[in-house]
Amino acid sequence: MTKVTLTVNGRRVSGECEDRTLLVNFIRNNLGLTGTHVGCDTTQCGACTIHMDGRSVKSCSILAVQANGSEIVTIEGLAKDGELHPVQAAFKENHGLQCGFCTPGMVMTAVDMINRHGGELDETTVRHELEGNICRCTGYHNIVKSVLSAADSMKVKQAAE
Ligand code: FES
Ligand code: FES
Repeated sequence: MTKVTLTVNGRRVSGECEDRTLLVNFIRNNLGLTGTHVGCDTTQCGACTIHMDGRSVKSCSILAVQANGSEIVTIEGLAKDGELHPVQAAFKENHGLQCGFCTPGMVMTAVDMINRHGGELDETTVRHELEGNICRCTGYHNIVKSVLSAADSMKVKQAAE
C-alpha cells in the first residue's frame, strides 16, 4: 500500500491505496466523493472528469499515486456557500440533463472550457470540446445550450466586477 496525499476541494487529504488504484476509485472509495462517476474506466465516456492542477482530466486515466501532491477539484467542490456554480445553474435552467449520470463530467469539462476560452465560445467549439464526454440521454442539444448560456453569464459577471 502507498500513501497518497492530495488537496481536494481545498482540503488536504491522505489515504492508502494499492499502486494500481485509479484516481477515480481513490476519490470515490477512499474519500467518499461519489459525485465523480465511472461509466467505462477505459477513458471513453468522460463521466469521471475532474480538475487536476487547474485542467480537466479523466480520473480513470490516472493512477492515484501519479496524482500524489496535486490539487484536485471534483463536482462537490464547485458550489459555494449553498449556491450552484454558474455552469451547474445553467445546466439546471436549460434542462442540460436527464438521468444525470454524465452530468458531473460534463460540468467539469464545461468549467475548464469556459475558463480557457472566456466568453468567446461558439457552438462548434463547445461541441468539439465535449467530444470526450458521452451522454446517452439528452441528444447534446441542451448540454451545448447550457454551456453557451453559462459562458455568457460568466462573461456578464466578470464585466460587472
Ligand atoms: Fe473515465 Fe469513462 S469512467 S472516461
Ligand atoms: Fe443521462 Fe447524460 S443525462 S447520460
